[in-house]
Amino acid sequence: MSKLMGPFKEIITLATTPDKGALDDSKLGIIKNAGVLVEEEKILKVGDFETLKGGADIVEEVIGEHVLLPGLVDCHTHLVWGGTRARDYTLRMSGESYEKILEQGGGIFDSVEKTRAASSEELKTGLIKRASRHLNDGVTTIEVKSGYGLDVENELKVLEVVKNAKADIAADLIPTCLAAHVCPKEFADKKEFLTYLERELLPQLMVKGITSRIDIFVEPSAFPVEMAKDYLAAAKKLGFDLTVHADQFHTGGSQIAVELGARSADHLEASTDKEVALLAKSDTVAVALPGASIGLGMQFTPARKLLDAGASLAISTDWNPGSGPMGDLLVQASILGIYEKLSSAEIFSGITFRAAKALGLNDRGRLAAEMKADMIAFPVNDYREILYNQGKIKPDMIWKNSNRI
Ligand code: NIG
Ligand code: FE
Repeated sequence: MSKLMGPFKEIITLATTPDKGALDDSKLGIIKNAGVLVEEEKILKVGDFETLKGGADIVEEVIGEHVLLPGLVDCHTHLVWGGTRARDYTLRMSGESYEKILEQGGGIFDSVEKTRAASSEELKTGLIKRASRHLNDGVTTIEVKSGYGLDVENELKVLEVVKNAKADIAADLIPTCLAAHVCPKEFADKKEFLTYLERELLPQLMVKGITSRIDIFVEPSAFPVEMAKDYLAAAKKLGFDLTVHADQFHTGGSQIAVELGARSADHLEASTDKEVALLAKSDTVAVALPGASIGLGMQFTPARKLLDAGASLAISTDWNPGSGPMGDLLVQASILGIYEKLSSAEIFSGITFRAAKALGLNDRGRLAAEMKADMIAFPVNDYREILYNQGKIKPDMIWKNSNRI
């Protein structure tokens, strides 16, 4: 049975918008007074509402003026944690640095202690609460990293929580193992810890089919470049997709991400023209995390330079208890846009199909035939109102796999 949703004042289809490089708003693929014809979970056709009406079995009439976008994709979050890091934020506001807090055994280590102590039920409740807020804001696909377990038992506990939460939320949750977040206190040697993960954890993840993605935090305070490269190469050999926390404070991470063909290199606040050029030549998506820049009071990822050089740029929240506690994708994308001078097409692409590409997904993020019918409607009559309102206008209708939620 086919179903037609509409009419929408404007549909931002992004149907043929390029995967890489700078974009002007002529690339938004706007169709006016339009509808979306769906069958089961997929889109059959997007076009003029009145024309499509004749061929539809059911019509789900939309009342009032709306602009329709693809469901948003957040390709980088750390949504499972115990405790709070309000203390860190207060210290950072008074001038303490993120790296210093970490060096002194706080920061990520604090979240590790609280996450290890939390039960699976407690962690699941926190995850569902955050993921539901995200979904209500229009984020229909959410990547979720582990990384506050830091041993086999607790990393598996967190990743199982993500797997079990899938039944309780309509958004798609895409798990990633970030066991190599920092070296836990019980290991004196970073290399020894990575070898332990390689031998004891990664094969189990494959056997259990619990995630197909591996991440690592590449930084002198976490894991140095050469060591990280060996770990990523081993994960790749086992068949995992790679993503990297790269160039947040020091460069090096993005280069190995490109060399190893990672799906994405995320952060990039410290990237120079050299890293920008490497990413632009590659198929690795550059992921800007404005929420982390705002949470740490540091410079934004050079998004404009990356796009002008020809890179594929995604924008994501990095929602986590430490550097990125806000977790509002639209607010952050709009703020990055005004500081980095981005077009609406670049921003909307960065939070839809380009973010999906960072997750290796090519079935969402555009409103076109064969795509998943993940769609969000804003109560405005012009797409420019959405970013202009800096996240204060939320979607009032959301469809996941064609079902209204
Ligand atoms: O992406 N930089 C490393 N990891 C996270 C922060 C994690 C934390 O501070 O708890 C990030 O910013
Ligand atoms: Fe992160």
